[in-house]
Amino acid sequence: MRTDTGQAFRLEDYRPTDYLIPEVDLSFRLDPDETLATAKLTVERRDGVAAGTPLVLDGDGLTLKELLVDGTPVADAAFEATPDKLTLMAPPEGKRFELTIVTRLTPAKNSTLMGLYVSNGVYTTQCEAEGFRRITYFFDRPDVLSSYRVRIEARKAEAPLLLSNGNPADSGDLDGGWHYAVWNDPFPKPSYLFALVAGDLGSVHDTFTTASGRNVKLGIYVEHGKEPLATYAMDALKRSMRWDEERFGREYDLDVFNIVAVSDFNMGAMENKGLNVFNDKYVLADPETATDVDYANIEAIIAHEYFHNWTGNRITCRDWFQLCLKEGLTVYRDHEFSADQRSRPVKRISEVRTLKALQFPEDQGPLSHPVRPRRYREINNFYTATVYEKGSEVVRMIHTMLGEENFRAGMDLYFDRHDGQAVTIEDFLRCFEEASGKDLDQFALWYHQAGTPNVSVKTQYDADAKEFTLELEQSVPPTPSESRKKALHIPLAFGLVGPNGQDMAYDSVEGADVENSVIQLKERKQTLRFTGVSSRPVLSINRGFSAPIALHHETAKEDRFFLARHDSDLFSRWQALNTLFLESLIDASSRIRGGREPEFDAMLLDYPAEIAADETLEEAYRALALTLPAEADIAREIGENIDPDAVHRAREALRTAIAREAEKSFADVYHALKDEGAFSPDAASAGRRALRNILLDYLVAGAGEPDRAERQFAAATNMTERAAALNVLAHQFPTSEAAGKALADFETRYKGNALVLDKWFMIQATIPGPETVERVRSLMAHPTFSTTNPNRLRSLIGAFANSNQTGFHRADGEGYDLLADTVLQVDGHNPQVAARLAVAFRSWRSMEKARQEKARKALVRISSEEKLSRDVRDIVERTLG
Ligand code: TRP
Ligand code: ZN
Repeated sequence: MRTDTGQAFRLEDYRPTDYLIPEVDLSFRLDPDETLATAKLTVERRDGVAAGTPLVLDGDGLTLKELLVDGTPVADAAFEATPDKLTLMAPPEGKRFELTIVTRLTPAKNSTLMGLYVSNGVYTTQCEAEGFRRITYFFDRPDVLSSYRVRIEARKAEAPLLLSNGNPADSGDLDGGWHYAVWNDPFPKPSYLFALVAGDLGSVHDTFTTASGRNVKLGIYVEHGKEPLATYAMDALKRSMRWDEERFGREYDLDVFNIVAVSDFNMGAMENKGLNVFNDKYVLADPETATDVDYANIEAIIAHEYFHNWTGNRITCRDWFQLCLKEGLTVYRDHEFSADQRSRPVKRISEVRTLKALQFPEDQGPLSHPVRPRRYREINNFYTATVYEKGSEVVRMIHTMLGEENFRAGMDLYFDRHDGQAVTIEDFLRCFEEASGKDLDQFALWYHQAGTPNVSVKTQYDADAKEFTLELEQSVPPTPSESRKKALHIPLAFGLVGPNGQDMAYDSVEGADVENSVIQLKERKQTLRFTGVSSRPVLSINRGFSAPIALHHETAKEDRFFLARHDSDLFSRWQALNTLFLESLIDASSRIRGGREPEFDAMLLDYPAEIAADETLEEAYRALALTLPAEADIAREIGENIDPDAVHRAREALRTAIAREAEKSFADVYHALKDEGAFSPDAASAGRRALRNILLDYLVAGAGEPDRAERQFAAATNMTERAAALNVLAHQFPTSEAAGKALADFETRYKGNALVLDKWFMIQATIPGPETVERVRSLMAHPTFSTTNPNRLRSLIGAFANSNQTGFHRADGEGYDLLADTVLQVDGHNPQVAARLAVAFRSWRSMEKARQEKARKALVRISSEEKLSRDVRDIVERTLG
């Protein structure tokens, strides 16, 4: 295990390498216990660099077997090789030379899942961000681009399938039951995009003809017997390829495109050139084992990795500080894809819920960092919601400010100008400035300044003068990265909603640039005056969540209800209702804490029945509208001195009150929605199931007894219905016979199918209440659970720590101890995943005092472990502050 060296990397220290490596020739002789990796590197001294300048390459835990320069072994005194570094003291004086490095690897023993490892008998690699240096010594940084030729040798029985990046070039048999394959990737790429897969896998195949008529062979490789589960992923891939041509003019560029599903994987998926490697969770689906959410995730992630071919691979990052250049942009692209494939407003609401659930707490806590950070100790810890999700929001704002045409012109210029390069956020922004003629100087602060901006809104209407005044004020609280903040350029989409629900016209506006119903807020404080406004409007602002801000707009409940019913922007309708729910839940929780009974507004209890039955709204939208803010959402909004038990009781009280009020309407809709035909994963069918499942949750809560959920569980014909019913049973009646029986049935039915049992782990890990700590501890001993598999860890421990407020934050600190124990245990073999689990501690300071103290103790216990990895140490030390 790596031990921390405490060194930080800083953006301002960026310097190009002295040497380039235009060509890489790799050959592997694969064996689980002793793999030989031979790297022949064409090394070229850069112009202006003195001949003989030492060559220093990165390594990580490497064992060097041989080193040759231009075919001749290098004398011992002429180089130094440590596990972390190779130094060639005096390279040849000529411009170019060939460096041959032979390293010895033990893939079967590699539990970090970085570099070359074996998962379920399959050799696979993961090189982003710094995994290539675990294979051979290299300039393991994204600004060194090389064309790769890869030869793989393996025992044919062990690995009939041999894949790498690019196009297949050669293959054949060797002596002793071995065989080989050669792959050529003509597109120069950084080392983090290298990949190799070798094993015995089943596959599905298809073809795709690009817009210009090129034929591409598509393959998806999965465990034998699972081929039918890959057909949805294949369909999603073809739709992604078509969409990128139509929407961004981007065609695929190789003869083959392969995807491999592996069962041990640190994250979701990886965009290696021409050979995407996926967590099998995001490939495999059929109605019996996958939920509608799984299908949607598969579609989105297949698209995301495919889109990286242009945004990430053809144009890559100069350094890891620029990570959002590829990730934020590619998330934006996959969001747009899903919006086009499904329902745009529903997709937008889901995105905003995710942003608020994951990115807001990050940005408002000790791990806050700019979308483009300026320093890091461990880059793996910067694959964050801020880089990905806020990074995507920033691109979306550029689109909002420039409009579709200028945005597309900026993207075209970016592809045209920077194809084949490793670039920066500045290069990216310059393309939009040039294409649109707009100045993005102030806007660029979104990349450089951390924290969620607060925007407060005050309005006033003067009926005599027919004038509407809007006062906007922005502020960003200090974060660890900057203590004082500059004013941001914030695009706020808005409408002045008139009595009939239509946006009202006005004669003129002064006080800000307003174009296409978007206010460009640039100062700390700006007052806008609208003239010619015929009657008092209701302000709808930050429509479509045009900017990732926290909005503070104190307004009458009647106005919020009005927007919830009538705003022409569906996102704003959802937002208005959600805010009403939140405000009343916060109030209820403080009453409960003060020993009083919660009280709810009659309008709030009446409205849900109306929404459930409103056939002018899509079912998926209705399902989202009826979903109460999660306990974590309520806690985040309260912000400090949180008592999770009071929050939990408040939410239960509101759910029950709504259910009792709407019983009849909910039951009617629930029955009318019963799906009779064959299962289809399309958005409309999924929406019906989503609405039905949220209604089930209410109906069972209102009735106070489990039968309806038992019936749905027994009658379910697909995983979406079955898992939802199980969730209701287990969460609402955890100790009941009905829940016990359903959990046991589910376990028996899916015995041996770890991916499905992950749902079973997750449902149990998120059962509210203090007893869940013991339940999770005992589930850790379940034969299917394993701390070496990241999916198992995320399903049981990750779900518990991130989605169980009353369990994780148990008053006696046992939940914190459970997480600390697991982090320490996992850190011994997989630091990257251990660090991700530790992130769940990030909001500890917002809890009430006694819990804060328990959390702090657990964090201190982790940090006092001497042999902590750099990954975990970085997270824990920043979290403690
Ligand atoms: N670049 C990958 C993506 O598409 C994510 C990724 C980064 C990753 N580092 C990884 C995946 C390590 C697996 C392991 O977002
Ligand atoms: Zn990505």
